[in-house]
Amino acid sequence: MDKKVFVTHQLPGDRIHDLGQLCDMNIWMGPGLLPGTALREELSESHGLLCLLTDRIDRNLLDGLPNLEFVSSMSVGVDHIDVDALTERGIPLGHTPGVLVDTTADATFALMLSAARRIVEADRYVRQGNWRADNAWSPEFFTGKDVSGATLGIIGLGAIGQAVAKRAASFGMRVLGFNRSEREVPGVESVSLEELLLRSDFVTIHVALTGETRNLLNAERIATMKPGAVLVNTARGGIVDEVALAHALSSGDLYAAAIDVFETEPVDMENPLLALPNVVVAPHIGSATTLTRAKMADLAADNAIAALKGQRMPFCVNPEVY
Ligand code: DGY
Repeated sequence: MDKKVFVTHQLPGDRIHDLGQLCDMNIWMGPGLLPGTALREELSESHGLLCLLTDRIDRNLLDGLPNLEFVSSMSVGVDHIDVDALTERGIPLGHTPGVLVDTTADATFALMLSAARRIVEADRYVRQGNWRADNAWSPEFFTGKDVSGATLGIIGLGAIGQAVAKRAASFGMRVLGFNRSEREVPGVESVSLEELLLRSDFVTIHVALTGETRNLLNAERIATMKPGAVLVNTARGGIVDEVALAHALSSGDLYAAAIDVFETEPVDMENPLLALPNVVVAPHIGSATTLTRAKMADLAADNAIAALKGQRMPFCVNPEVY
């Protein structure tokens, strides 16, 4: 009898059809995202799960799923999943690194430039009819901060951090990098986190959210950032203390921020960052191009296909289960 695989969303790409040929596949057809409360029931008989980063897979859920043999997430980050609980049960977890690197690095630059050059604020200004003959242009009109020639601090020198460093080089930026384990990257001056925060005009975060990185940029560290610096976060929300950041931005200690990821998603409309004109926000779209999302879905399906065939997943987070 075919194994049962539950897919929590309709997916782009081609490989999902190949997966369907190999199993009894059940896809959540909506409307909208699968509610967390429905996951247990939908999954109760399943041998495999292909999920998104919006699906919370915790120990409690896993306790009720004795048949589950593998999980494949269409994401590189797996902070929505209790990896230890899967590993203890011998269940491999697949993820989708690599294919979103350039797209996320592009988004990081787009956000950094938008925050530095006040693009979103300027767009709102024009649309709201504030651009008039009496203020059409002046030397100080919508002046921002230069990216070219500035110092960029990259927290996390994995694939995305390195792709950001490459882009920064072509902007003539001096690039500082901090990585938990020492990593030599051409064109990047390796420094401590403390030094990076002290010296960087722009700081961008490219680490996974783990127990170690949660609240990495806490109030104390934010207070040590170079006055007038800009913070960009396309990694995960829980890495930055949002209240402390909002405080530093409204007091003028920091110049601006560009935030694609929040501690709670979707972001609470009361989040103090949303009230600040010097914050550019986006709804977790770092990897959001049609092509990249198809590649991510294909990779997630490939991980599931390998698991169904009894093979090692090509991109497994917890290979120790094999
Ligand atoms: C991921 O895959 O973890 C990203 O956050 C999606 O953009």
